[in-house]
Amino acid sequence: MDFNNNNVIKALARWCLLLQVIMISSNTVALKEPDYVNMNVTIRNAMTGVIRPEIVYRCQSKRKNYGWHRSTKPGIQFSFPIILIKGETKIPAIHICNIRSALGTATLVIQNTYLDAEMCPKSSCAYEATPKGIVFRGFEWDFETVFPRLKPVEYLELQWTPWPNRT
Ligand SMILES: *[C@@H]1O[C@H](CO)[C@@H](O)[C@H](O)[C@H]1NC(C)=O
Repeated sequence: MDFNNNNVIKALARWCLLLQVIMISSNTVALKEPDYVNMNVTIRNAMTGVIRPEIVYRCQSKRKNYGWHRSTKPGIQFSFPIILIKGETKIPAIHICNIRSALGTATLVIQNTYLDAEMCPKSSCAYEATPKGIVFRGFEWDFETVFPRLKPVEYLELQWTPWPNRT
């Protein structure tokens, strides 16, 4: 086969340019339109077996303050929706909740990525204020089975910091 070297190089250069343009434009699209997923963060009163089960709490992120809420008895909960970027696992959305009860205070730092939205469908995960402290009740992936599945988990996330003794 007899072909002109110069033409081949020109064609290659054109091809590279085209490829670059495609790559740059698809990058821009990816930056402009990430996919989002929604989930609810739930704080629930589970102060059973105590004389004063009331709790008050306020959750906030850098940009949003969800205000103080009061929950007078076990079972009452408060949820707020958060938006997470699909595919983003390294930069979590951070919400800080200040919780107060007769037993003390707790500063709960909640970090969520879209993986939590997958593990906690339909508000199935919650932070419960119990007499022991703040308990996380939700789901985690169980990889010990052939097909990974969600298994229920429950653990003490944070203990109450007792109020200073007043005389
Ligand atoms: C969050 O909670 C609201 C109110 O209960 C519900 O309508 C909505 O579907 C929930 N969203 C998610 C992602 O679970």
